Amino acid sequence: MYEVLNVVGSALWFILPAYVANATPVVLGGGPPLDGGKNFIDGRRILGDGKTVRGFVCGLIAGVVVGALQKRWLTGTLLALGALLGDLLGSFIKRRLGIERGGALPGLDQLGFVAVALLLASPVEAPGWAAVAAILLITPVLHLATNFVGYKLGLKSRPH
Ligand code: CTP
Ligand code: MG
Repeated sequence: MYEVLNVVGSALWFILPAYVANATPVVLGGGPPLDGGKNFIDGRRILGDGKTVRGFVCGLIAGVVVGALQKRWLTGTLLALGALLGDLLGSFIKRRLGIERGGALPGLDQLGFVAVALLLASPVEAPGWAAVAAILLITPVLHLATNFVGYKLGLKSRPH
């Protein structure tokens, strides 16, 4: 039991800069969209209005600060950048599938950001397989729970 808690604790500590980078835009985002309002060749938005310049910058700064506080400056920066790029990639894919801004794509919505964060940070620092498994299992639950709280607080227009 103690070992399980230890793995879960170190997994959450490892991925924390990615979580913070992903959550910050919900509170501090808004304003001009990253894609400049432009459409892709398929006639749909490149990313959509849910991905803003301010959200990206604030998310990156917040994630970098958390990494610095953890004394893992480089890993924290890569995790934060990976989380934000993974989130953009998710929106890009959703738009290509014809899913409007705010529409759900279960799986990608909860794990896309964390998968790209892990990949980008892996050349510098990778957690063990047990920690990766813990991150992949816990993140969807935490993501759905925090998004539901954000919805109840009026920060998000939809509960996912
Ligand atoms: N947000 C932002 N900038 C980002 C990412 C998120 O401003 N780079 C803000 C937006 O207000 C967004 C909210 O955080 O609506 C929630 O993020 P998310 O659920 O990822 O966006 P959605 O609105 O659901 O859009 P999408 O369908 O593209 O995921
Ligand atoms: Mg969403």
